[in-house]
Amino acid sequence: MAKKSIKDKVVIITGATSGIGEATARVLAQAGAIVVLAGRRRERLEKLLADIEKSGGQALAVPTDVTKYDSVRGMVDAVQQKYGKIDILFNNAGVMLLGPVINADITDWQRMIGTNLYGLIWCTHAVLPQMVKQGSGHIVQTSSVAGRTAKEGSAVYNLTKWGVNGFTEGLRQELVEHKIRTTLIEPGLVATELRDHITHQPSKRQVNEWAGTVRQLQSEDIAEAVLYAVTQPDHVDVNEILIRPTDQQG
Ligand SMILES: NC(=O)c1ccc[n+]([C@@H]2O[C@H](COP(=O)([O-])OP(=O)(O)OC[C@H]3O[C@@H](n4cnc5c(N)ncnc54)[C@H](OP(=O)(O)O)[C@@H]3O)[C@@H](O)[C@H]2O)c1
Repeated sequence: MAKKSIKDKVVIITGATSGIGEATARVLAQAGAIVVLAGRRRERLEKLLADIEKSGGQALAVPTDVTKYDSVRGMVDAVQQKYGKIDILFNNAGVMLLGPVINADITDWQRMIGTNLYGLIWCTHAVLPQMVKQGSGHIVQTSSVAGRTAKEGSAVYNLTKWGVNGFTEGLRQELVEHKIRTTLIEPGLVATELRDHITHQPSKRQVNEWAGTVRQLQSEDIAEAVLYAVTQPDHVDVNEILIRPTDQQG
């Protein structure tokens, strides 16, 4: 069957300032969607907005901190006011602050849980009334291989991505009657700045050494997976896409 067009669909993308979110914004805008760029770094949002518009795409930049409900609410209200609809939410903002549990810096845990869990459920909460009213919508979550396979040194990151998977399955069942789709994107190792933010230096060294031995995925590889999921016909809900680099074992 022919793929569904996403021309003029309104897509909110969190974590659009770099990596997977930025690449997905470019790919979906190229496919005709109106992309709402959400993230904290304003200058990056502005640059991406300018790039997309220069290429003939449509975008709106809304500085947003997903760890703050008021910021999320303000972003979603701005989208509703400007476009009157929300077709897709790509809940992608995240941090991966690896390190052992013993003597961990608990502010790392607060950031991970605040961003990867609260950020994701708050964005979901904020868009759902509009999608329910429309009787259509699609919520795409960036989970991870770390939502399926736990590793020493990754326990709290695992906790957050496991949480995303459990939340999304419960949500999927609740949303069937509203004809709203849900998709989990579960990447393995992707070459982005995610690892640069790790504060526990031995963990940072370890993951960077490992990354040097693998042909990593590129953000565009994940963006293409998102495009695949959101361009399926209405009766098809791609629930999960798990993508590892060919060289990644665990
Ligand atoms: N790279 C990998 O190997 C990999 C593998 C599996 C899953 N993932 C997941 O993929 C997602 C994207 O990560 P990435 O690899 O593309 O890394 P990245 O380049 O570091 O992107 C992370 C994005 O999240 C945003 N973000 C962080 N905290 C935020 C906050 N409080 N409010 C709003 N936005 C926030 C960042 O924007 P600002 O700093 O500008 O706010 C940035 O745009 C994450 O959920 C990550 O867990 C990545």
